[in-house]
Amino acid sequence: SKKSGPDLRSPICCILGHVDTGKTKLLDCIRRTNVQEGEAGGITQQIGATYFPTENIRERTRELKADATLKVPGLLVIDTPGHESFANLRSRGSSLCDIAIVVVDIMHGLEQQTIESLNLLKSRNTEFIVALNKIITQFKEQGLNTALYYKNREMGETFNIVPTSAVSGEGIPDLLLLLVQWAQKTMEDKLTFVDEVQCTVLEVKVIEGLGTTIDVVLVNGVLHEGDQIVVCGMQGPIVTSIRALLTPHPMKELRVKVIL
Ligand code: GTP
Ligand code: NA
Ligand code: MG
Repeated sequence: SKKSGPDLRSPICCILGHVDTGKTKLLDCIRRTNVQEGEAGGITQQIGATYFPTENIRERTRELKADATLKVPGLLVIDTPGHESFANLRSRGSSLCDIAIVVVDIMHGLEQQTIESLNLLKSRNTEFIVALNKIITQFKEQGLNTALYYKNREMGETFNIVPTSAVSGEGIPDLLLLLVQWAQKTMEDKLTFVDEVQCTVLEVKVIEGLGTTIDVVLVNGVLHEGDQIVVCGMQGPIVTSIRALLTPHPMKELRVKVIL
């Protein structure tokens, strides 16, 4: 029989994070069990372990079409308590694992025991994956269906979620590409050039040296210097003509004045 690469054992994965970030609930979701609801006060007070054979992982990841890449026989997952009094159990769990999941409640950010867990993992040079939890349900509570954008097959019905960081820039390429591709795919009619001018006034102001200026968004059509225009005024319509057209620099905000 053909064999590719060495025999692999099951990786041991520890699940860490502040109390109530949803560690046990996530495992319940994977296992299709209900352990969390049976816990006293909904608090995990001991270490738990669950073995996931690769068949099950294959089944739960089928939609990602990556079957062929699964090489390990399974995955052993260790659940830990997030309550502050169980630091010893988190330390134990993190010391025996090969890899970890750090669960963060997206509404709460990095809480105390999450930071403690991160420090444990850092001190042992353990690789980990961050699971940002709880976001989708909050949208559901608002009556909205949402999905991670790369899994969303019914755009328009289901809103896309793109994880981003405005500090590191992660996710920004995904966000931009999605916006452009989605718009050009679903709004072709609306985005087709027409001759009829469609233009909305944002602001009217008097600028020294220019006189009265109007900030407008030209939605469609073309404006020329010398064109006669009609705008709404307090005392009725104002008929005037365009003396000059100024456009903000590309990649610069309208509010940022560029000195030429
Ligand atoms: P400890 O083990 O006590 O540290 O908590 P934990 O991290 O295991 O969290 P647990 O699974 O007990 O979940 C805490 C609460 O959050 C429960 O009421 C869960 O039902 C709820 N919860 C977990 N995940 C989600 C989620 O994705 N969305 C929402 N809305 N609630 C969630
Ligand atoms: Na809990
Ligand atoms: Mg728990």
